[in-house]
Amino acid sequence: MTYRITLLPGDGIGPEVTRVARAAIDRAAEISGFKVAFTEHAFGGASIDQYGEPLTEATLAACQSADAIFLGAVGGPKWDNASARPEAGLLALRKELGVYANLRPVSVHPALSDRSPLRPELIEGADLLIVRELTGGIYFGERERGPDWASDKCTYSQGEIERVARIAFETARLRRGKLTSVDKANVLTTSKLWRETVTAMGSREYPDISLDHMYVDAAAMHLIRAPRDFDVVLTENMFGDILSDEASMLPGSIGLLGSASLGDERPGLFEPIHGSAPDIAGQDKANPFGAIESAAQLLESGLGEAKAAQHLRDAVAQMHEAREWTADLGGALTCSQAGIKLLERLDQLPTDQVTPSVKAVAS
Ligand code: IPM
Ligand code: MN
Repeated sequence: MTYRITLLPGDGIGPEVTRVARAAIDRAAEISGFKVAFTEHAFGGASIDQYGEPLTEATLAACQSADAIFLGAVGGPKWDNASARPEAGLLALRKELGVYANLRPVSVHPALSDRSPLRPELIEGADLLIVRELTGGIYFGERERGPDWASDKCTYSQGEIERVARIAFETARLRRGKLTSVDKANVLTTSKLWRETVTAMGSREYPDISLDHMYVDAAAMHLIRAPRDFDVVLTENMFGDILSDEASMLPGSIGLLGSASLGDERPGLFEPIHGSAPDIAGQDKANPFGAIESAAQLLESGLGEAKAAQHLRDAVAQMHEAREWTADLGGALTCSQAGIKLLERLDQLPTDQVTPSVKAVAS
């Protein structure tokens, strides 16, 4: 079995972390006994430079025909005055693929508890999953611009809310059975519909899930004050964007978080939640763990190869225990050195975790 994976390294540190993710997927596949074939395409600013647009027809087609897509990062000041923005390519890709649910897990490995700007006793044991609606809301509403005014429209349909809520409820069932839906229903009409829709679904289809609702401002505060209270957090596109950056400070670096963007069918899109970090681009300083976690999500939810995903996460956990980190976490490793360490640790995983065929070859 050979899976086809389209790589979109993108801009800034995107190519650096994508290189590590690619090697990690490759090695995890080898250990688990399946094959992957990669193709790489320019995307975002890199594609504007080469083709004048952030997402070409050919790149979109390469994404649509893949089994899964891995994306590094897009954007940077270089394209501030370009005819198109790199980010527009990312929004178009998410929309075209129909990946309406963006899953952003946040957990605090014990070794990381002194890396956070928050006190260890507050964050120890925090383990939550943000389910962010990804193809609707203000990101995709009509935009208008006059000489001295501007407008961005925010629209949600009941169907758009239900489909992402279903993913959140189902995921909560596999976790601790708790769902917090975050909105601004005291002000926004889209949020009122959001709350009504989620409440109705909860009592109709998910009575076993403990559902509560929180306003987004209160949720932002609660995330810092008592992060362990959260299990699954369901929210709309822009609130999810903001809350997930905030949540990355629980483990201490935005470089740690990965994400899976899923629709009703393959392919899913997998990307770290961090941006292109132009200030450190090309210096081999980026933290590749967010990309590696995204690679694990690609293997698990994108390809159904849960064991290979577990190998990656086991190797990352070992690196945390040994405090093998990049500079953002106070470590001494470069991005590429962290990638090499990961491969070494993958190779050294206990052989009972490795498939028999590989064990035979190794002995
Ligand atoms: C993210 C990013 C994107 C977003 C940008 C690059 C368009 O911040 O994936 O969180 O806002 O969705
Ligand atoms: Mn973001």
